Amino acid sequence: MDIIEYLQAQGVGSRKMCRLLLLQNRIEINGQRPPDDIADTLTPSILTIDGETLPTLPLPYFYILLNKPANVETSHKPVHYPSVFSLLPKNWQNIDIQAIGRLDADTTGVLLLTNDGKFNHFLTSPKNQVVKTYHATLKHPADNVLCQRLIDGVLLNDEQEIIKALSAELITPTLLALKIDSGKYHQVKRMVAAAGNRVEYLERIAIGNITVGNLNRGEWRFILPSELAISFQAA
Ligand code: URA
Repeated sequence: MDIIEYLQAQGVGSRKMCRLLLLQNRIEINGQRPPDDIADTLTPSILTIDGETLPTLPLPYFYILLNKPANVETSHKPVHYPSVFSLLPKNWQNIDIQAIGRLDADTTGVLLLTNDGKFNHFLTSPKNQVVKTYHATLKHPADNVLCQRLIDGVLLNDEQEIIKALSAELITPTLLALKIDSGKYHQVKRMVAAAGNRVEYLERIAIGNITVGNLNRGEWRFILPSELAISFQAA
């Protein structure tokens, strides 16, 4: 990858801007004047502009695990709240990073972000049946009738086929743990509504085996391809 492509991929700016910064000797990589070509594997590297360190992305592909807070939208063009992407460093704001599936603005928890379109497609394709685990706080105390309805399957508005939960268990009468392997619009809220209750608060606990771990709400970390491979066989 040539140095200008590399700097652009790190969100430094336009081609013109990157060329200018190089000409003016304002950029260093790992403490040195950058070479003309950068091996794809030279990441994470320390990139400085005018002595100020910029966070760098591992290239060519990166995977980010975000503990999504409430009141941010999974969209590059948010309408009511800031975008989830605004939680990432400033120099990455114009980079093509996509969310793997969406969480509603009020849903919290595990959200994966990547520039790897193939992996994104793999995780979101219904045929791969990736398991998502949610905790739903219910409006009305429930019993096992609700769980059984969800496991037997419910018919959602505008859908032809019934949708079944892989598992549904009550942790308390108003806290439901639900596993599903599809990802339709507002799926958990619609399933719970179709089963006769209402979701007041929703948190995604896991995608496959990936959980937020030690991340606080709003925090993120890179996730290694090897971690993904453990959770998703074809990753
Ligand atoms: N199901 C929902 O209803 N909302 C989400 O954000 C995710 C799954």
